[in-house]
Amino acid sequence: HRLLTIGLFGFGCVGQGLYDILAREESLPYKVARICVKDPNKLRPLPPENFTYDWLEVVQDEHLDILVEAISDANEAYAIVSEALRRGKKVVTANKKLVAYHLPELLALQEEFGGTLLYESAVAGGIPIIRTVEEYFSNEPVARVHGILNGSSNYILSQIFKNQKAYSEALKEAQDKGFAELDPWLDVAGADSRHKLCILAAHAFGRTLAPEEVAFFGIDFLGHQDWEFAKQHDAVIKLVASVHETADGELVPLVLPSLVRASDDLYGVEQEFNGVVVEGGYSGTQLFKGRGAGGHPTGSAVLSDIESISRGYRYGYKKLQRHKNAAALALDYELE
Ligand code: HSE
Repeated sequence: HRLLTIGLFGFGCVGQGLYDILAREESLPYKVARICVKDPNKLRPLPPENFTYDWLEVVQDEHLDILVEAISDANEAYAIVSEALRRGKKVVTANKKLVAYHLPELLALQEEFGGTLLYESAVAGGIPIIRTVEEYFSNEPVARVHGILNGSSNYILSQIFKNQKAYSEALKEAQDKGFAELDPWLDVAGADSRHKLCILAAHAFGRTLAPEEVAFFGIDFLGHQDWEFAKQHDAVIKLVASVHETADGELVPLVLPSLVRASDDLYGVEQEFNGVVVEGGYSGTQLFKGRGAGGHPTGSAVLSDIESISRGYRYGYKKLQRHKNAAALALDYELE
């Protein structure tokens, strides 16, 4: 049968990861037909004739079946994805900052123009956590979700605790391995974890949190005495993002470097791995662990969205609908 054509925006770690997976898996019915990038002068692993530079023209290209947005700038991603949804397109994004800041509006666009937006790769890389929370937990109350949502900072902390590396050396490695954001402050300061927590909260609790509502502390201000303190207490430090619901129905979202001991669920989540613990009201506590960063794990999550979107899958947002939260917030946005 016919190949589905993909328009890819961005050719960094995620875009190249997807491209490489599709090059290896020749039997899959998907073809990257166009790759749109920003800087014509940047050195890339493919010859220049593979690239195009006008994003609007690619969004308007009627021959493309699916658009995949994998650029790092959230404002440019917003322009691309919102325009694509306005045209009723099927869109896959890997951009967690975009989704964290604009989910209500993107949902309103999806409803109004009949397009679809999926973003499995935006949270915890190769762990299928959005779909899991969205599908499996759509009818079950969730008491708390907490986890390690940033691979770079977890890699740095693992190198410090396991291999006695210096902070700056470990950060450099995380960048060289393609785990870190273009601006690594997002990773080490906890902002990236905060974005991912907002997305998880929307699906797990049915509330759209603005990133500003999430208190966050990073690992960038920790130092020798903190590592020593943790060791003295038979613990390691991990950057833990958590959100739970209080008895009066308030959400408490936090990103915080935390002492984690051998008895903790997250203790064995090391290097660039992410781990997400979901406490279901009936299913109990479950840990999901997998690679949270890197081209292939993240590319695999994008690929799974491509497959889902091509057979008409959409997130149901059952919990959001129950809380009527997305609609209310989308309206707020229009009034701004
Ligand atoms: N910079 C991110 C991380 C990439 O380190 O987790 C995956 O979102």
